[in-house]
Amino acid sequence: MLLFGLEQLNNMLHPSFMVQEKDKIPRIETTPPPANRWTKGLAVEDIPLEIHDLTVAYHHKPVLYGIDLAVPPGKLIGIIGPNGAGKSTLIKAIMGLLPTDSGWVKIFGKNNRKNLKRVGYVPQRESVDWDFPVSVMDVVLMGRYGKLGLFKRPAKEDRDIASACLEKVKMMPYADRQIANLSGGQQQRVFLARALAQESDLYFMDEPFAGVDAATESSIIGLLHELRQKGKTILVVHHDLPTARNYFDMLVLLNMRLVDFGPTEEVFTYEKLQKTYGGRLTILSEVAEAVRQNKE
Ligand SMILES: Nc1ncnc2c1ncn2[C@@H]1O[C@H](COP(=O)(O)OP(=O)(O)OP(=O)(O)O)[C@@H](O)[C@H]1O
Ligand SMILES: [Mg+2]
Repeated sequence: MLLFGLEQLNNMLHPSFMVQEKDKIPRIETTPPPANRWTKGLAVEDIPLEIHDLTVAYHHKPVLYGIDLAVPPGKLIGIIGPNGAGKSTLIKAIMGLLPTDSGWVKIFGKNNRKNLKRVGYVPQRESVDWDFPVSVMDVVLMGRYGKLGLFKRPAKEDRDIASACLEKVKMMPYADRQIANLSGGQQQRVFLARALAQESDLYFMDEPFAGVDAATESSIIGLLHELRQKGKTILVVHHDLPTARNYFDMLVLLNMRLVDFGPTEEVFTYEKLQKTYGGRLTILSEVAEAVRQNKE
């Protein structure tokens, strides 16, 4: 059951979205700083993520253009941008889940598809079929899959690690429950436990705070800080601008193109956020408020 479930779950994580009509996003002309600005002097194998000239299209229509990005190790990084900006697409392309039209992605100096064992991924909740009949413990054990190899059964050590990760997100009491029978926030925590069980060096989390309560959000932030403390690199898609300033060391500003990437205090400015969000009023008043709070 576990192996069967595992293959199914992996298939389920592949993007099979319906085409959605999203807001039209204005073309932005930007000149982001050189991609290697924050990784200069590092050996290529020490650079967690390096992307060059990445273009991704759905049905021949590009949604990400010419992305150049190099991410230093040991940072907690927010990916910020409006709906339809290509945030999930960027992560899926990095995970090798989508065909790319141009460019390359390297993970610790190697072709991304060859180094995925070093990567943990928490997909956007809506992209997962939660009705799939599998238990909480099975989902987390699947996080050990990369370490186990395809036909090995999980050992006691794997179960212990999976249990410890469930403990961390306070979901151990639900270990035997089917994932369909959890609340949205609990499902999110299970996927976080699965990523933790992967013991990766580089993590991608697509809106891990969507649908979780404030207490869970702050405990997840605590876990992310622990990972950072251990030198891990974590990229998190995050929608709430006021908290983004406090949560992240660095920000990726994305709107089909890379608008900017750098330390939060340098990038979280009204002008740069306005470029990213293309002048949407409600968001901009939120930005103005967040920037004002930073100055206080
Ligand atoms: N499978 C698909 N087929 C066609 N177009 C797609 C597909 N998936 C996404 N798109 C389109 O690609 C663009 C980027 O989508 P993506 O999901 O990456 O945005 P996002 O920044 O993650 O948005 P959100 O904040 O809503 O999660 C959007 O215009 C979207 O409609
Ligand atoms: Mg998304």
